Amino acid sequence: MRADILLGLQWGDEGKGKVVDVLAQHYQIVTRFQGGPNAGHTIEFDNKKFILHTIPSGIFNPDTINVIGNGVIIDPYILQNEIQNLKQNNVTVENNLLISRKAHLILPTHRLLDAVYENSKGNAKIGSTLKGIGPTYTDKTARLGLRIGNIEQNTFYQHYRDLKEKHLHIVKAHQFDYLNYKIEGMNLEEYEEKWFSSVDTLKSLRKIDSEYYINQCLDANKSVLAEGAQGTMLDIDFGTYPYVTSSNTVTAGVCTGLGIAPSRVGEVFGVFKAYTTRVGSGPFPSELDDETGQKLREYGREYGSTTGRPRRCGWLDIVSLKYAIMLNGVTRLFMTKTDVLNTFQTIKSGIKYLHRGDAIEFVPFESSYERLEPVYKDFEGWQSDISLIKKANELPVQLNHYIDFIEKETSVKIDMVSVGADRNQIIKL
Ligand code: GDP
Ligand code: IMO
Ligand code: MG
Repeated sequence: MRADILLGLQWGDEGKGKVVDVLAQHYQIVTRFQGGPNAGHTIEFDNKKFILHTIPSGIFNPDTINVIGNGVIIDPYILQNEIQNLKQNNVTVENNLLISRKAHLILPTHRLLDAVYENSKGNAKIGSTLKGIGPTYTDKTARLGLRIGNIEQNTFYQHYRDLKEKHLHIVKAHQFDYLNYKIEGMNLEEYEEKWFSSVDTLKSLRKIDSEYYINQCLDANKSVLAEGAQGTMLDIDFGTYPYVTSSNTVTAGVCTGLGIAPSRVGEVFGVFKAYTTRVGSGPFPSELDDETGQKLREYGREYGSTTGRPRRCGWLDIVSLKYAIMLNGVTRLFMTKTDVLNTFQTIKSGIKYLHRGDAIEFVPFESSYERLEPVYKDFEGWQSDISLIKKANELPVQLNHYIDFIEKETSVKIDMVSVGADRNQIIKL
């Protein structure tokens, strides 16, 4: 068996969590392979809403095993809160959550460093979620990090203290007032105490050598779905660098983040919104700073799942969508938040960029720091409520035109269209 992959094709928040939850009934294993609690994956059903940061979105399907892979970075405090919130809603994780021993730990001082680096950037802030993502992956690469498997070793506390000392050295060199900085509403010392008690909770969870586990599952013909976090345009190599996250969010990240060979990759499901959003700083060619952008934000309830920040909104950008499809080898597309466009008279989609006077159809190097001007194609809106539609043959003709256009441009079929936040609001085409 091969592992299927589901990932975001834009700047994150494409609705990956919702789609993974829907697909989970068809998979025996759902696994995260990169990122950390910078992710916020929303799942809604039975009038309940959950936001997952570290736990894979298959957790609501009692028959699915959820694996946090080696490429993920974990903040024990955030993970413990997630588990508690699930427990309060009668979702238990004891039997169906497994954690890689090789996943790295986000230390309290990694979160402090995130703030120090953001603070030092002045006007060039990344707009980080401040969950410690950049500093933790930096320490991983610098071969300084602490991993889940280290928790049970005698040397853990010494290793922790050494790393903390290194971090505080940097913090002090930046003259950062860390004694007054709050993490989750607490000062460093208070947060550290909570963090260590969460590490104790972590000890009781099931830890595995996930690379062996996943490969053995595939050998045994079990179905595996790898769930991406963030989106392709936030990828450390291919995104709008430096306004990106610190991991490989693309298909290639699955191989290193789980330990599976490229030949074991199956379908690649690419999720995109019917328009585009971005939270945090950085270039966004099709951004709308006007009333239309506000309307998208209002109708799409575009506020960050992790930080609550308003998301920047704009039209669908076909050039970057095609770039993302190329990088990931997408085999099927899922379009989400289609209902958000219900009332629009005209819908636009960027089909080219104007770049230094030329019309181009690729994402140039300069897209990282220059704003490209999109050339738009107009579509007639359907101006009707599609949120209760269940069957593909009931979709309005204008929406079918929009779908046909995207399929033709990308040469990939759209498999499902999401028309609302609830688990049931999804139409198979
Ligand atoms: P993720 O990070 O990719 O999992 O996406 P988020 O959960 O951060 O953001 C997607 C938001 O859109 C969440 O609030 C979802 O509940 C919501 N959502 C998902 N699909 C749809 C949809 O088809 N229509 C509408 N209106 N909302 C949706
Ligand atoms: P999900 O999985 C949207 C953005 C941040 C910031 C940049 C770097 O929910 O789609 P970081 O905290 O990684 O240092 O932030 O990346 N970002 C996201 N934007 N969705 C996400 O995750 C994101 N994770 C990080 O806003 O601009
Ligand atoms: Mg999100």
